[in-house]
Amino acid sequence: MPVKTIWSANGDVFLLDQTLLPVRKEVLQIATVEQMWDAIKKLRVRGAPAIGVAAAYGVYVAVKKEALDNVGADLVQVARQACDYLATSRPTAVNLFWALDRVRAEIAKNSGADLTARLLDLADRIRTEDDVACREIGRHGAALLKSGDTVLTHCNAGGLATASYGTALAPVYYATEEEKKHIAVYADETRPLLQGARLTAWELKEAGIPVTVICDSMAASVMRSGRISLVIVGADRIAANGDFANKIGTYMVALAAREHGIPFYVAAPLSTVDLAVPDGDAIPIEERASEEVSEIQGVAIAPDGVQVFNPAFDVTPHDFVTAFITEKGIVQPPFASGLKAQFFK
Ligand code: MRU
Repeated sequence: MPVKTIWSANGDVFLLDQTLLPVRKEVLQIATVEQMWDAIKKLRVRGAPAIGVAAAYGVYVAVKKEALDNVGADLVQVARQACDYLATSRPTAVNLFWALDRVRAEIAKNSGADLTARLLDLADRIRTEDDVACREIGRHGAALLKSGDTVLTHCNAGGLATASYGTALAPVYYATEEEKKHIAVYADETRPLLQGARLTAWELKEAGIPVTVICDSMAASVMRSGRISLVIVGADRIAANGDFANKIGTYMVALAAREHGIPFYVAAPLSTVDLAVPDGDAIPIEERASEEVSEIQGVAIAPDGVQVFNPAFDVTPHDFVTAFITEKGIVQPPFASGLKAQFFK
């Protein structure tokens, strides 16, 4: 079974530090909003849905701390500032902004009930809802899998990227656990930060699902060799027309899949669909530090001072997508109407 990534217990907030996996499994307690911002920025907690959950818990810890440290403080003001601050942590995954919008709506209710308690309750609810949505993605997506299939995935859109069950890996978990199908996975290592090799391989191995790690540059040739039945990836933001942003390298996988006639699915909850963004060109793409490319775990792999370009995500145009898998079902083309209709189901 997938692992827990971020949760609360007796009013305290914890997360599994994903930067240390697979070498060490260490849990961090998050007591300040600065620690949560840092955890999101440094990818201790990562993956679009998990970032949304983390943001909600981040506002809660800000208010909880202020209420303890400073009796009589304006907690509504503190909560609003925490929302604005956390919104600066990472730009691409829309789940961050989706969760903060929900938190802002809760703050605005000004119901008289204790704000700290309401924010914890909301963060817990966002976490639970994500779990339920991911299981539904698993149930719908499993229908696309038959025993003996091998799925290629990119980055980590598994349990670690969500509250616990994953998006791209949810159909694999569901098909294996609930339907007793035999499914294997090829995991692209996913340079530069190796979420595929470190995280996808780790969580699938923990779950007892056969997983094979390949370098990103091997994907096309592995497809050509006939080893891949279908591709399933996650998404950080899906535009209204179905163009979507996901971890850098996803577009290359989509190009190779099309050339080899391999179905290419995108699994994501509706909290990842941003109908306010018309197409992929309008999705903000995060650029990260050059050292992530020029070094591996602090060791230089490129000449000192060399110029580096490090976009963390790319956009895949919608016509490369066979179908989307959401918690409401499978969305076939045309995606503009299909995705919108999901919100009314
Ligand atoms: O930079 P990361 O590790 O947060 O990027 C994660 C991805 O690109 C995932 O594929 C995406 O967030 C979907 S997670 C269910």
